[in-house]
Amino acid sequence: MKQLCVLLILCVTALFTACSPGELDFSYRDLPPGDPTRGADLFTQSIDGKASCLQCHAVGTGQSAGPPFQAYAATASQCVKQQSAEEYTFYSILRPSKHIVQGYSNIMPSNYAKKLSRQEIADLIAYLLTL
Ligand code: HEC
Repeated sequence: MKQLCVLLILCVTALFTACSPGELDFSYRDLPPGDPTRGADLFTQSIDGKASCLQCHAVGTGQSAGPPFQAYAATASQCVKQQSAEEYTFYSILRPSKHIVQGYSNIMPSNYAKKLSRQEIADLIAYLLTL
């Protein structure tokens, strides 16, 4: 009985660690070089059968559930102290609830670290920084 309890606790702990959106085990520096053209394509495509980035983010002006990308590269570097535009974008995509853009709610999907490959993440960042 005691062994069973220990086993149960171990399982629950393992499940918890696997599912909690803790720290990422890679950083912007671990990504391959990004291709903005591929990123632009990916931006318009449904990810994992769910909304595309474009469905929540207008490019240029426009109202959506998320902030529009206009002069994004210029402002991204000033959003969080000591974070480059690249790092800020990296965390905005993979850990969106870490920093919530003022005036918006925390509804951006938080599982992109699992749903996108490192190459895709790099491509998206490269694209966003051309905006
Ligand atoms: C369901 C709607 C939704 C989808 C889909 C979505 N986002 Fe977002 N996104 C938001 C919202 C809302 C915010 C603002 C709140 C926050 O900071 O999390 C945001 C914030 C951001 C930011 C920070 C913007 C800034 O001005 O500082 C970036 C970068 C971003 N999203 C990129 C993406 C990319 C890339 C995708 C596709 C892979 C995507 N988002 C998909 C809703 C969405």
